[in-house]
Amino acid sequence: MISLVTGAGSGIGAAVARRLADRGDEVVCADRDLASAEKVAAGVGGMALLMDVTVAGAGQQAVDRTVERFGRLDTLVTCAGIERVGPAAELGTDTVREVLEVNVLGTFDVAAAACRRFVEQGDGGRIVLIGSVNAMIALPGQAAYAASKGSVLMLGRSLAVDWARFGVTVNVVGPGVTDTPMSAGTLGDPDRRAAMMRRIPLGRPGRPEEMADAVAFLASERASYITGAYLPVDGGWLAAG
Ligand SMILES: NC(=O)c1ccc[n+]([C@@H]2O[C@H](COP(=O)([O-])OP(=O)(O)OC[C@H]3O[C@@H](n4cnc5c(N)ncnc54)[C@H](O)[C@@H]3O)[C@@H](O)[C@H]2O)c1
Repeated sequence: MISLVTGAGSGIGAAVARRLADRGDEVVCADRDLASAEKVAAGVGGMALLMDVTVAGAGQQAVDRTVERFGRLDTLVTCAGIERVGPAAELGTDTVREVLEVNVLGTFDVAAAACRRFVEQGDGGRIVLIGSVNAMIALPGQAAYAASKGSVLMLGRSLAVDWARFGVTVNVVGPGVTDTPMSAGTLGDPDRRAAMMRRIPLGRPGRPEEMADAVAFLASERASYITGAYLPVDGGWLAAG
């Protein structure tokens, strides 16, 4: 299987790249931080790709480079994402636009390119989008991020409905707070960490590898009848509300 992972240079994306390589996939590690992508790619024997998901045509280019190198594409996992936090009235439209451009448009662009390739190949494909518990739960200061992740959730469902006729499944994994550079600020602050852990029934942050296991399942043949699903991997946070 040939897999393309965006945001593969760090955190959840890096764990996904390693997990898919462990099961025998050839993995293309795409990230706007090429040095990080190269490090992960070297560790998994994969290919690194410089990719800024907000650049026009980046999705198509990433798919083309994958096919040039490995001959086809079977799986796309979109992990590239950013978070910007601040009081909603002060965030400003530039910040909101920046978050939506990476998290929503950047996801859409590469997913559409992957689907075009799947249609050309004629034997389906797997797409897994990384959403967030914040698609469902609002926290203070997260207007831009939560709006983007709510959009990723409905994007995943919409693409699943649109592309089922091509044999393409599209599912969304919803991490809770996960121990990566993105959440280092929250988890590194004892008070904020404790407040967050009180909301999580399992009482701890997730590990990137735990997100990767869920992704690997949805990106496997065993998940052949699952599409349009949102799979929370959040220690029970969503269940507790
Ligand atoms: N860490 C958490 O607690 C958490 C919780 C829920 C959801 N998520 C989501 O998981 C995904 C991965 O986050 P993470 O925690 O691994 O964060 P991370 O910051 O460790 O990794 C994100 C990666 O995305 C890359 N990236 C950012 N903008 C990009 C762009 N424009 N083009 C290409 N690559 C870009 C970064 O260079 C980085 O390598 C994100 O979508 C994030 O919103 C994370």
